[in-house]
Amino acid sequence: MKLSKSIVAGAVGLSLALSAGAAVAKDFRLGLITPPPHVWTKAADAFGAELAEKSNGAHTVQVFPSRQLGNEAEMLQQLQTGALDMAFLTVAEVSNRVADLGAFYAPYLVNDMDGVAKILRSETATGLLDQLPQQIGVVGVGYGSAGLRQIASRDTVESVSDLSGKKIRITPFAPIQDFYNLLGTAPTPMPLPAVYDAMANGQVDAIDMDLELIWKLKYWEHSKTVVLSNHMMFPMVGLVSARVWAQLSEEDRALVRELMAKHVDSTIDTFVAQEPKFLEETRKTGVSIVEVGPEFFGDAIDQWNAAWEKKTDALAALRKEAGM
Ligand code: BEZ
Repeated sequence: MKLSKSIVAGAVGLSLALSAGAAVAKDFRLGLITPPPHVWTKAADAFGAELAEKSNGAHTVQVFPSRQLGNEAEMLQQLQTGALDMAFLTVAEVSNRVADLGAFYAPYLVNDMDGVAKILRSETATGLLDQLPQQIGVVGVGYGSAGLRQIASRDTVESVSDLSGKKIRITPFAPIQDFYNLLGTAPTPMPLPAVYDAMANGQVDAIDMDLELIWKLKYWEHSKTVVLSNHMMFPMVGLVSARVWAQLSEEDRALVRELMAKHVDSTIDTFVAQEPKFLEETRKTGVSIVEVGPEFFGDAIDQWNAAWEKKTDALAALRKEAGM
């Protein structure tokens, strides 16, 4: 079921206008698409453990990894109706509803994980979360990260022309689809769980992916080349249903906000610290790693920026935060 924007805005506006609820014990349900060993899932578990501890057992969090509650679009709808309490979602999914969040995907907005940390912790980034309750019926408490994007290809890649016309798996969202269209490839939206088989059976020629998963989920097994491009960041956002939020006491809101923000933010530090290890492990597999910079992508980057400047003012604001 897709709720119209006006219904969501009306319902949420009303509920947020009400005073906070009374303090009541709650067993929150938190959904996410990543599997149990993933950095995000571990952060969700740690958030649940700390919330139980700091609330003296009054609140618990049941974590549902691996899309047990549905895909991200379905979980977002469940958050809107209050059927789901919390989720850690890709900013990609949320940007399908809130175009300003697409600005995070400007190619080479940052060059490394330190740059990612700086942008995601900036006032501009935090400010973008303010519109979520009114626009889509969720409260955004803070950002996390899944590192930077690379391209793993079944065939050898030496220049961008080797990708021309190739089917490249993308996470389903507009900014990345635009990027791969500008490169003259055939972007193929596909959720994470379908990726391994699609690479194995040649349904796609290459995938847009982060290093952690290229290594851990063994996408390298069907890759001849990993193009180490670091071409985009891939943020996550910790969300609470606005309907559920309205029922929490002020004290509980503060506790949930503080702890969820802390644990989603911890994933940024994990990727800052672990990217070198993910690269080393990927190298050890023997896959050919081709290191490239923005020049590899030619004028697609300028074209992307020109198109997205027209869609959102957030792009200029984030570029300013990045010192561009
Ligand atoms: C992906 O769609 O590539 C993805 C989703 C969540 C975490 C990491 C990667």
